[in-house]
Amino acid sequence: MTLTQHVRNGWYLGAWSDEIGRTLKQRWITDIPVCFYRLPDQTVTAVEDRCPHRKYPLSLGHLDDEGTLQCDYHGYRFDGQGVCVGVAEQADRPKAALRRFPLVERDGAIWIWPGDPELADESLLPDTSWLTDPSWTHVHGVVPLKARHMLLLENLLDLTHETFLHPTSIGNAAVAATPIDVTVDGDRVGFSRRMIGIEAPPFYEKSCGLTSPVDRWQDGDFYPPGIFVLNIRVAATGTEEPDGFHMKVLYGMTPGRGNETHDFYALGRDYLIDDQELTKFQHEQQLAVMQEDVDALEAQEIMYATDPGGSAESSIKSDLAALRGRRAVAKMLAREQRAQQDARVPHSRASV
Ligand code: FES
Ligand SMILES: [Fe+2]
Repeated sequence: MTLTQHVRNGWYLGAWSDEIGRTLKQRWITDIPVCFYRLPDQTVTAVEDRCPHRKYPLSLGHLDDEGTLQCDYHGYRFDGQGVCVGVAEQADRPKAALRRFPLVERDGAIWIWPGDPELADESLLPDTSWLTDPSWTHVHGVVPLKARHMLLLENLLDLTHETFLHPTSIGNAAVAATPIDVTVDGDRVGFSRRMIGIEAPPFYEKSCGLTSPVDRWQDGDFYPPGIFVLNIRVAATGTEEPDGFHMKVLYGMTPGRGNETHDFYALGRDYLIDDQELTKFQHEQQLAVMQEDVDALEAQEIMYATDPGGSAESSIKSDLAALRGRRAVAKMLAREQRAQQDARVPHSRASV
């Protein structure tokens, strides 16, 4: 596992809507510094956070009431389209424009496409309507992670680790003991695990008021390169769909700078949606579980980073989804690198 380069032709969760307002926010995405802000009409904008004059971060500048962005080093000013409209030192305006990124703001999430804008295709985004559906409630946020994106991706595509890493909350022996079914659909990788008549892990026992035995279903979908959605269903054993308790977890696995990753999360449920105590409990549990993952992935990152030759790994059956995920990202990266090479090779011309 050596994948430390980032796919750019893909959607990543860039920010939650409630993080972005009329102040400038810097966030590194796939090694690109990005400055997010809203224009006066509330549309969100993301530009490369490097001034075209001498590369000073624009996020250290100012945004005025008209939506003009000023670099606070030598005063270049940019309109809402990112075009330079003037600089104080001279009457004629410099020829300069900011690189702007394709964005989709939907259901409280801001999705960014850091690669070729021509390829940005909204249909590749997952359904996130549950984030704003009135019959659901959710909590969300972002956790910093000092580990490469690929390690987080493998963590989510192989939930057998719940048994060992989260034994006091969401994991127990039944998870590792139950095999997964894996499906691959183009670049998309899915897995499902059906745990029938098992002991209820503490989080689900408290979260749903259930006692053992329970049925627990996990269906995970990876939308490469950086989106993962988990459908969780828990019910008294033998309960048929659609009865039972439904939860969803969305992860935005967004590469930052170097081997750092923004670990965006949203945890939703479709029952007891007005129960604030339950919301608080679930949010605390979510963050505690994520911290266990962060600690593990950061320890793992050191081991991969200090083993650049890539000593051989051993794999088992439950790695299948994670291995398919790796392969999907590697293929996307190879496609992207080929396209870049093709664009660089000059077309042969008839001799003159
Ligand atoms: S670096 Fe921005 S105006 Fe000079
Ligand atoms: Fe985990």
